[in-house]
Amino acid sequence: MSKALIVYGTRYGATASTSEDIAETLSKEGLDVKVVNLKKDKVKDINEYELVIVGSGIQIHKWTKEPEKFLKKFQKELAKQKVALFVCCGSTEPLDDKTDKAKSIKNARTKYLEEKAAKYNLQPVALGLFGGVYNFNNVPWLFGKFMQSIKPQLEAAGVPQTEPGLYDTRDLNAIRNWAKEVAQTVQS
Ligand SMILES: Cc1cc2nc3c(=O)[nH]c(=O)nc-3n(C[C@H](O)[C@H](O)[C@H](O)COP(=O)(O)O)c2cc1C
Repeated sequence: MSKALIVYGTRYGATASTSEDIAETLSKEGLDVKVVNLKKDKVKDINEYELVIVGSGIQIHKWTKEPEKFLKKFQKELAKQKVALFVCCGSTEPLDDKTDKAKSIKNARTKYLEEKAAKYNLQPVALGLFGGVYNFNNVPWLFGKFMQSIKPQLEAAGVPQTEPGLYDTRDLNAIRNWAKEVAQTVQS
């Protein structure tokens, strides 16, 4: 059985549950999957994995630091392995009327994924740009004003609350289809 590793960093939980969803699909496709939250656990060696998926949430245009450190640490190994990158972010669903959605998606793909792959000399088998969550139950004081300012926009855009205070812009089918395609790159 081919082994796959998913590592991620999250601030508000979207990348954690997205990682679990990806893992479920990979398992269904016959892969032996390990998921690691890099904020909690470390990875010492990646040689046993045929596929490595690295995911991050985005805040003020930045990845979380742990998966970025992971890319740096394992840059040489990853260059020889099958690797996929994904991010959970707000750019897939711009909340103001002025931002062009297609442009926002294109810019996010370039900035958060393609530039990251290039920075670490990676040639990923796939790049996943997914939506994110706005979690009003876990707001750092620094971002309180920003979060209050976007609440009416989330409501107006019809973003569903998957639990009280948690607005989720992710498309789970798109995530599962992406994971299926990634799994197939290992089997082929
Ligand atoms: C304070 C704050 C800043 C954010 N900045 C950005 C950003 O610059 N670009 C973007 O696409 N999404 C941005 N987002 C949306 C997040 O990417 C989204 O909440 C995502 O779920 C974060 O991933 P995580 O839940 O795994 O932490 C921001 C969200 C918050 C709360």
